[in-house]
Amino acid sequence: MNMDLLIEIKKKREFAKLDDKLVLKLLQRNKSYKKFLQTENERYGKIAVKEVRALLRKIITPMPKKFYKKFESYKDNIDKSEAIEELLNLNRATKEREKVYPWLADLLSSRRIADFGCGFNLLGLYKNGMNFSDKIYVGYDADGYATEIVEEFARKKGINAKIIKSDITSINFEKEKADISLFLKVLDALEELELGFSKKILTLKGKKIVSFSLKSLSGKKIRERIWFEKLLQKQNIKFEKIVKEYEVFYLF
Ligand SMILES: C[S@@+](CC[C@H](N)C(=O)[O-])C[C@H]1O[C@@H](n2cnc3c(N)ncnc32)[C@H](O)[C@@H]1O
Repeated sequence: MNMDLLIEIKKKREFAKLDDKLVLKLLQRNKSYKKFLQTENERYGKIAVKEVRALLRKIITPMPKKFYKKFESYKDNIDKSEAIEELLNLNRATKEREKVYPWLADLLSSRRIADFGCGFNLLGLYKNGMNFSDKIYVGYDADGYATEIVEEFARKKGINAKIIKSDITSINFEKEKADISLFLKVLDALEELELGFSKKILTLKGKKIVSFSLKSLSGKKIRERIWFEKLLQKQNIKFEKIVKEYEVFYLF
C-alpha cells in the first residue's frame, strides 16, 4: 500500500479528517491505482488521486468553504444557538430538513438510537425539542469534521452519546443493539461504495428509518428510489412510506 497517495488525497482540506480506512478502500479498488502499483508510473498515481477525490465528493458531499475556515470556532462555540443555527443552515441535509425536524424529533421515542452517517443530525434533533435525557445516541460518520463537532456538542449539552468515526460499510451490524437505526440520506453514497450494501441493513435488529433526498445538488427534483422499495418487498418487509418536503422516509 502506498501511503503517499493517501496523504495526497487528504491534503484537500475537505478530506483532511476523513477515516483513513475509507480512503484506502477507494484507492485499493481504483484501476489507475492498480496500474500505478504495477508500473510505478507517477501519472497513474495522479489520476488515481483525482478519481478517488471525485468519488469522495459524491460520497461525503463536502460543506461550503466557510465551514472549514471557521471549523475551530464552530467547535468552540457549538453549545451556542448562533453556531448551531449557522451549521444547520450550512449543511445541505439539515437545511433541507428544517421544517421536517419537529416531526422527526417526535417520531424518535426509542431509548437506543443508532444514526449511521449521522452528519449534524443530532444538532437538528436537539434544536427541535427532542428530549435526550432518557436516550443513548450512537452516531457513526466517516468524516472527522462531523464527528468532532457532534461529539463536542453532546459533551457540552450533557447528552448521553457515543460518536464514532468509522466507515459504515466496515461495521458488523450483528453486534448493533439499537432500538432504532437511522440511515438518513446516506444509502445512495453507501451503494456507490458497495453495490448491494442496503441489503445488509435489513439484518439489523429493531426499527429502521431510511430516507433519501428528493432534490439534486442543483435544486432539481430527483427520482424516488424504487429499487429500495423493491428490495423491501422482495424480503416481505412491511414498510410505511412518508414524503416530507424534499425527503422520502421509509419506516419498517
Ligand atoms: C448527505 S449526509 C447526511 C447526514 C445525516 N444523515 C442527515 O441526514 O442529516 C451523508 C453523511 O454520511 C456520511 N457518510 C457517507 N459515506 C459514509 C461511510 N461510508 N461511512 C460513514 N459515513 C459516511 C457523510 O460523511 C455525511 O456526513
